[in-house]
Amino acid sequence: MKMKKFIAIILSALMVLSMFAGCVADDVAGPGKNTYNLKTVKEGYLTVITSPDYAPYEFYALDENGNPSLAGFDMALAQYIADYLGLTLEVVPMDFNGIVGEMAAGTADLAIAGLSPDPDREGAMSFSDMYYEGKQAFITTKAKAAQFTDLASTNKAEYQIAAQTGTIQNELAEQYSPNAQLINLVKATDIIAELNSGKIDGAYVEWDVAAAYSANYPDLQILCEVPYEAEGNVIGVNKSNADLLKYVNEALNKCVADGDFAQFVATALDQAAGDNYQGMLDENGKVPTTEAE
Ligand code: ARG
Repeated sequence: MKMKKFIAIILSALMVLSMFAGCVADDVAGPGKNTYNLKTVKEGYLTVITSPDYAPYEFYALDENGNPSLAGFDMALAQYIADYLGLTLEVVPMDFNGIVGEMAAGTADLAIAGLSPDPDREGAMSFSDMYYEGKQAFITTKAKAAQFTDLASTNKAEYQIAAQTGTIQNELAEQYSPNAQLINLVKATDIIAELNSGKIDGAYVEWDVAAAYSANYPDLQILCEVPYEAEGNVIGVNKSNADLLKYVNEALNKCVADGDFAQFVATALDQAAGDNYQGMLDENGKVPTTEAE
């Protein structure tokens, strides 16, 4: 009898201990083994900034209970690179217009945010090799599409045309629709909301993002492709970290050559078609209730 009770106590103590061990392993990954002995802003970690309002690049996928987790091919690529380097991935979400400033300040190792290699940003960061060939689009609604014939027809004072703040799409708007009323919106989702409500007539957005949004909102329509000389996306790398740039390019090229990256894109497109949220979470890590889809 006594022995049985003793065994029961030991067993339950062991159970509690193993539960605790499980928690520690899951919640706090700790620094990585740092395979290439890289200097990063936080030792053993890869700190990546992104702007998760940009499916299929980066966004939140929602599970059946509405719980968000970061998704998109940029985020899969971030995890791949962190694993390759033996670093623990730490993603810091922010609005896109904060990204270049953070890189200039050197507070992050990488910016992975559907970033175009805009020469104006070269002082703030180094650019990796191109990992994705993307193009640019002019997006409008089905209802308004008839008023435009081509890109040149968007250049009229009566039109309100938007682009996301701090993006190269602003330059495209100024280049192709300089006579229109140009509007800057902080989030890509704001652009979509204003298009859907009829407040604006059109917007400049990355092609794949425009395509993903039009798949989810059938009232939207891509008018045409918009020419831009740097057709593709790169990773922004901390400008004082040449070693990191070297190994990021190594990881990136392997990821693309082995076909892993194509798989990330396919998964991201699937997830972008499912339940998702684009934008910033609230202070509890939840989807803000007013903005939930
Ligand atoms: N490719 C554009 C740029 O670099 C827009 C990127 C916006 N990215 C985002 N995650 N919202 O300016």
